Amino acid sequence: MASITIRNLDDATKQSLRERAARNGRSMEEEVRHLLRETSAPAAVDEPTWPEPGGGDAALAGKQILLIITGGIAAYKSLDLIRRLRERGASVRPVMTRGAMEFITPLAAGALAADRVFTDLFSREDEQDVGHIRLARGADLVLVAPATADFIAKMAQGHADDLASTIVLASDRPILIAPAMNPVMWNAPALQRNLRQVREDDVQVVGPMRGEMAESGEAGLGRMAEPLDIVAAATHMLDDRPRPLTGKTAIVTSGPTHEPIDPVRYIANRSSGKQGHAIAAELAALGASVTLVSGPVTIPDPHGVSTVRVESAREMLDAVEQLLPADIAVMVAAVADWRAAGESGEKIKKKPGKAPPPLKLAENPDILKTVGHYGKRPSLVVGFAAETQNLIDNARAKLERKGADFIVANDVSPETGVMGGDRNRVRIVSAKGVEEWPEMDKQSVAARLAQEIAARFQTAMA
Ligand SMILES: Cc1cc2nc3c(=O)[nH]c(=O)nc-3n(C[C@H](O)[C@H](O)[C@H](O)COP(=O)(O)O)c2cc1C
Repeated sequence: MASITIRNLDDATKQSLRERAARNGRSMEEEVRHLLRETSAPAAVDEPTWPEPGGGDAALAGKQILLIITGGIAAYKSLDLIRRLRERGASVRPVMTRGAMEFITPLAAGALAADRVFTDLFSREDEQDVGHIRLARGADLVLVAPATADFIAKMAQGHADDLASTIVLASDRPILIAPAMNPVMWNAPALQRNLRQVREDDVQVVGPMRGEMAESGEAGLGRMAEPLDIVAAATHMLDDRPRPLTGKTAIVTSGPTHEPIDPVRYIANRSSGKQGHAIAAELAALGASVTLVSGPVTIPDPHGVSTVRVESAREMLDAVEQLLPADIAVMVAAVADWRAAGESGEKIKKKPGKAPPPLKLAENPDILKTVGHYGKRPSLVVGFAAETQNLIDNARAKLERKGADFIVANDVSPETGVMGGDRNRVRIVSAKGVEEWPEMDKQSVAARLAQEIAARFQTAMA
């Protein structure tokens, strides 16, 4: 029987075979076998049944997500995104643009998704029964991550010149995009115009975030949202669980505050906003109409929540007071206790040979206490206590002094890694006693807390 050695093929044939194999997520040997089968027998139509889902999550379990990966540097993060979605029980079917294949291989995406990767609009195999239409319609959600400036432009214009853009145009499913690009591209009027258009066309957008770019020395708004934030946005869109907080309003504060010393310096703390933002998103997922009052953070606004950005404790209090009355208040922000007494209008200059200027502090307003004793107090007021010592005693004292219904106490000693980290271990301190929760990621703490709030809120209403 004759045998073929790929090594002996001419360079051009080898190159075209290599490209074809990469596109189809096969080895070169598999591609040759496939080509031979294809020419010797009528091509069988592979019914692309969805791959087995991974683990389980109430909102994502069993959901089918068509993940379109476009050609940005953040494409490598979409590999982690596939893993995160699958571990929550979703099936992921990757579609890659030609650009995406310059950054990651279909083999990697296919291996993580446990599915083949679709790349070609004019695939003889897939298009025998108009496969792009099936791909467009078979999913619960079409997710584009990363979404390049070019792809967003194509979506805004309704182009259909490759498989990914054709799917988006032919889809009647909910669409979520995670833009990722250089900050100058992000701020370009053309990009912002296209983004407005896709939003108007009912496309949901998650991110981008502020931060360092892959290009050295560049920073700003444009980094793709982190995979877990994209998962949260997808979860919010797909969540068909009961929404016990429908019709209720909630205010959540989050992040640190920045207290100016002069126009360039400020007093701050290490809060990242991850816990507060996650709580806002989870309350929204249970149906509440949530406004998040956020101090300066680098994480994206949570999905399904309206966000008010502030800098200082006094601005945060003003924003919260304007939002009252509300049904629920969850005060998660790490509000600075003190600010500089008398902010200098000019940058304070260093004077050679002179002692450093004294930093005098003044007390900031107590936002939790103000809300807890407000005339039209929210039905449920939850405070956070970040302590490094006497956690429970301090939380108990706070509960009474601030007029909260319960305090979520967390130990923020440096060795816990809670401040700025992804995990948290909390105790719920209320008049009923202290409930210890195991350590979990901040998203899970937020989900459990939102359920707890819904339960307590309903009990309080009964
Ligand atoms: C190294 C490199 C990095 C790139 N990163 C991005 C990016 O992060 N975001 C973006 O919108 N475009 C980026 N581009 C440009 C896109 O790859 C280009 O617009 C391409 O046509 C996108 O095609 P697609 O959207 O069909 O995948 C990058 C290009 C190169 C060469």
